[in-house]
Amino acid sequence: MTTQTASTRNGRTNSRVLSELKTALSEKSLDIGLKSAVQILKRISENYNWLGIYLVRDENLVLAAYTGEGETEHVQIPIGQGICGLAAKQAETIIVPDVNKDPRYLLCFPSTRSEIVVPIRVATRVLGEIDIDSDRLSAFTKQDQTILEQAATILGEYLEAQHFSPGSSRSQM
Ligand code: SME
Repeated sequence: MTTQTASTRNGRTNSRVLSELKTALSEKSLDIGLKSAVQILKRISENYNWLGIYLVRDENLVLAAYTGEGETEHVQIPIGQGICGLAAKQAETIIVPDVNKDPRYLLCFPSTRSEIVVPIRVATRVLGEIDIDSDRLSAFTKQDQTILEQAATILGEYLEAQHFSPGSSRSQM
């Protein structure tokens, strides 16, 4: 009989996901690397219904890869607008437990109830972000934030190694 706690199990799952992510990103072109990354990150939780990676291009966020049932109409979001644009501007993770109660939220999918947006930073520069929608209210916890911020660090190192440049941009903070 095992005495393993939930947090130990989560810790092990998290390190497996992060190591899978590192492996997937090694020796891959940006396009293929980001497509693999969204698949791996979506497997973290069954609460993640749609997961996308946006990259900063000048004054906008541009959708680079996604996984989930629907296409979003928001393939380009000005920095500062919506939850995505705000997280990029503030260079900080934003969790919205109930999107219907947040006037900043830009609607993508009518089924979405909560959202998390995690900036991908290198030092103080924002290069992009991970955006996740859930059909459950309050789906995102501190544990989600922790692993996604660790994944964002790995993605930032990857983008830097790929010589990704966000352009002119206010991501230079
Ligand atoms: N809801 C986001 C827009 C992106 S979609 O969720 C894919 C926002 O408020 O910025």
